[in-house]
Amino acid sequence: MGNNLLKGKKGIISGALDPNSIAWKVAERCVEEGAEITLTNAPVAMRFGKINELGEKLNAKIIPADATNMDDLKNLFGQSMETLGGKMDFFLHSIGMSINVRKGREYTNLKHDWTLKSLDVSALSFHKMLQTAYQMDAMNDWGSVLGLSYMAAQRTFPDYSEMAEAKSMLESIARSFGYHYGTRNKVRVNTISQSPTLTTAGSGVKGFSDLYSYADKVSPLGNATAEECADYCVMMFSDLTRKVTMQNLFHDGGFINMGMSMEHFEMMNQKNEEK
Ligand code: NAI
Repeated sequence: MGNNLLKGKKGIISGALDPNSIAWKVAERCVEEGAEITLTNAPVAMRFGKINELGEKLNAKIIPADATNMDDLKNLFGQSMETLGGKMDFFLHSIGMSINVRKGREYTNLKHDWTLKSLDVSALSFHKMLQTAYQMDAMNDWGSVLGLSYMAAQRTFPDYSEMAEAKSMLESIARSFGYHYGTRNKVRVNTISQSPTLTTAGSGVKGFSDLYSYADKVSPLGNATAEECADYCVMMFSDLTRKVTMQNLFHDGGFINMGMSMEHFEMMNQKNEEK
């Protein structure tokens, strides 16, 4: 049951591939809270993903767009305004991909053409979406824009590889564009740094299940789930957070500020005794 936190608001949700996707849960929660939305994903995701099921369930139009392609993005914002009958109040960037990670290339042996692709898809696309919305004047004043990030932007997680650079850039774009969109339209731009979450993109990272359980043990509140991330996004899209902008917001059960956790320490001791 929703609380009408997004009643009367219109928005675009990118990145819902299957029911595990964080964006899938965000789309469901936004509609539950009274928003009208369009859904978007890369044209290739239409073939192997399940986004059509979500579109039917939420009665939301699906507008395919490669987030690195400016013409696709113009079409996305244009069609969204036409379908929903006005400018957007929010949009979510929930897009990430690395060929180097997918193909298991070590960080010390990257194929740099692929790295450029990763940065384009996972970070620059956020700027491309923002620039398209800005130039088309497609956002209402006091709108809210979110991108999803990960703590590897600040701390080193060896197997996260070049995606760490992508997330650093993503967070930087939120700060830089947040200035311009804020001064012109009072639009706020933030990133949410989410706990490891079991999704297609997440589980593509080598050693993901160890990373997941380590973070879960170290965080006092445990890992944040995709559903909890969706709750946080709803709050950030709502009018309750109108002066929060240019921030990277940690949604990680407290992980970022931990030094040592007794739970993790005890688990390590137990393992050593078993040896
Ligand atoms: P996911 O695999 O469900 O979502 C990634 C989406 O990016 C997919 O829907 C995919 O089709 C889309 N995409 C890839 N290339 C695209 C392109 N060129 N144009 C448009 N869309 C494209 O996985 P998840 O985990 O829901 O990822 C969503 C976001 O959350 C990503 O930015 C990811 O880095 C971030 N995140 C994920 C965490 C995790 O542990 N799963 C933790 C922290 C952040």
